[in-house]
Amino acid sequence: MGLSMTRRKLVAGNWKMHGTAAELGEVEAIAAAAQAHSRVDLALCLPATLIERAARAVPGFAIGGQDVHEAGKGAHTGCVSVAMLRDAGAALTIVGHSERRQAQHESDADVKAKAKAALAGGLDVILCIGESLAIREQGQAVAVVDTQLAASLPTSIGQPESFSVAYEPIWAIGTGKVPSAADIAEMHGALRRRLIMTYGDAGRGVRILYGGSVKASNAAEIFAIDDVDGALVGGASLTASDFIPIVEAASQD
Ligand code: PGA
Repeated sequence: MGLSMTRRKLVAGNWKMHGTAAELGEVEAIAAAAQAHSRVDLALCLPATLIERAARAVPGFAIGGQDVHEAGKGAHTGCVSVAMLRDAGAALTIVGHSERRQAQHESDADVKAKAKAALAGGLDVILCIGESLAIREQGQAVAVVDTQLAASLPTSIGQPESFSVAYEPIWAIGTGKVPSAADIAEMHGALRRRLIMTYGDAGRGVRILYGGSVKASNAAEIFAIDDVDGALVGGASLTASDFIPIVEAASQD
């Protein structure tokens, strides 16, 4: 109990490869809504090119990256370090998104190294995991995702509230499909047990977000599920008009 009662919901937007200066007005509108929903933590994980302008536009609002390199600096063409993200004004970063695990062939070990470097450098982390449709249909989702989490978790996390896990079934991302409430509850329960096994009591303070086709029409039902401590939202985070109702649902839960 104890810590589990104190977990604030976190609703984070993941803009993926969307957004230029023309969309800064959406960032400003979402940040304004944050003031009206102070029971919930909000963040927007933006393209690297937009982080600095967004962070300047909405001081105090949590702007994040979508990936980070595990090395401090060096010959890594096209990559961004923890210090660079912080320098641009980021407060957090996503690591291990399934789109990167697939397209950039990131392994659990890569994701673990990124999470470790980000936390050590003062960035909060949202670490993503999730199963393919084939794994879900084989009835292996919980076993596979639990193994993925165990292999991706950094050895230590410091303050539990600076580290979140996002369960994102690959087949639910951008498809409009969402697992049943019972399936989400089963998965989040298993992930909570893994977090407690790994970090002891601090594992109770880590937030477990659900991600994959979260929108205004399903958010309240998802937030009501045990051990769902918020959401990682892709498509529905791109505009304030889609995102704010999700934030409202989180703040009413
Ligand atoms: P979606 O994406 O909300 O568009 O399904 C979620 C994500 O990939 O983080």
